[in-house]
Amino acid sequence: MEQDTIRSVTVKPPSFMSILTGEWTELAESDRLGKCRSVTEFEKLNRVGEGTYGIVCKARNTENNKIVALKKMRLDTQKDGIHITGLREINILLNIRHQNIVQMSEVVVGKSLESIFLVMEYCEQDLASLLDNMAAPFSEPQVKCIMLQLFAGLQYLHENFIIHRDLKVSNLLMTDKGCVKIADFGLARKYELPLRPMTPTVVTLWYRAPELLLGSKTHTTGIDMWSSGCIMGELLAHRPLLPGRSELHQLDLILDMLGTPNDTIWPEFSKLPALENFSLKKQPYNNLRHTFPWLSDAGIKLLNIMFMYDPDKRASAEDCIQSSYFKEQPRPCDPEFMPSFPQHRLKRKQSKAEGKKSKEKRKSLDDSFKSFGDSTTNAPLVKKSRRDIS
Ligand SMILES: Nc1ncnc2c1ncn2[C@@H]1O[C@H](COP(=O)(O)OP(=O)(O)O)[C@@H](O)[C@H]1O
Ligand SMILES: [Mg+2]
Repeated sequence: MEQDTIRSVTVKPPSFMSILTGEWTELAESDRLGKCRSVTEFEKLNRVGEGTYGIVCKARNTENNKIVALKKMRLDTQKDGIHITGLREINILLNIRHQNIVQMSEVVVGKSLESIFLVMEYCEQDLASLLDNMAAPFSEPQVKCIMLQLFAGLQYLHENFIIHRDLKVSNLLMTDKGCVKIADFGLARKYELPLRPMTPTVVTLWYRAPELLLGSKTHTTGIDMWSSGCIMGELLAHRPLLPGRSELHQLDLILDMLGTPNDTIWPEFSKLPALENFSLKKQPYNNLRHTFPWLSDAGIKLLNIMFMYDPDKRASAEDCIQSSYFKEQPRPCDPEFMPSFPQHRLKRKQSKAEGKKSKEKRKSLDDSFKSFGDSTTNAPLVKKSRRDIS
């Protein structure tokens, strides 16, 4: 059904197939955009981000002068339509509303029916570019403030049976009022009970839970909680906590930090698919305390419950909100008092070696945004954060 929907958008001349009867109907000129407005009603200002599935621009809604973010959906060249991740993202974002989740207001379309854009509230920062550019790390009250907001957004998602499946600092946005918003729902999925198998290669490597690395096909909300632990560690340490170079190296880093799991602490452990082919090295110690020697016991405990090997024992977002870490000194700062760093977003950090490659890439990005009408050539190229590599 999903595929039928994709094809209906791209067959030329524009026509659509009823998914009930299979009949094709040609679209009248006046109906080409459906109920969607045209992207020409937005004035493109500059490009602010580019991830795996979309290009994001800051734009002005000419109807009310409001500043928004426009995310252009990537096409699936093999299937001749919108990438399935884009359809999932639209479907999920249309149905959720929470102050810690980026708000999508509408979908607009370009001239060709293949260009589809999500209109979202504009957020000044993403945490990856902030971390890449900040001279001094976030203070502990600031880290607490960010984490509490992340947990609030996650609690809402998980209560609504949505797993994000790609939490990382580049997918966490922050407004100039210090409000943290979970973004990028390209890999998010609704789940049902009983859990059905899903592909294990979701979640950017550095934030990927051990059950996924070991081939488990059942996805629980625990995979988002593991990623949250990695994010908290990264915010506190001001560098990625587990920056693996390969899946095996990622597992190695996890074992070094937490010790080797066994069936006593994780009953499903030895039945995990990957363990049929190899066994893990033996490392008996939990080294979290050595990684964060200055952190309070409550802080270490919070990290430990997010890093429980057994996903069923891992803390929920609600458990984390209740952690005594947030009640002890130093207390979380008020979002209003979060610093804002407007300059980082437009920073153009580019080495000479990167120059040529980026120039070619920029041209293709500009081409893909040409339906905007206004020139994109002056738009600063946004450097992809190391933290955004899948
Ligand atoms: N609503 C928004 N406001 C401001 N910047 C955004 C917004 N949404 C995304 N971005 C920027 O664009 C980048 C890529 O967007 P994202 O939704 O993560 O796409 P992808 O699926 O390609 O990773 C983000 O890391 C962020 O820097
Ligand atoms: Mg992203």
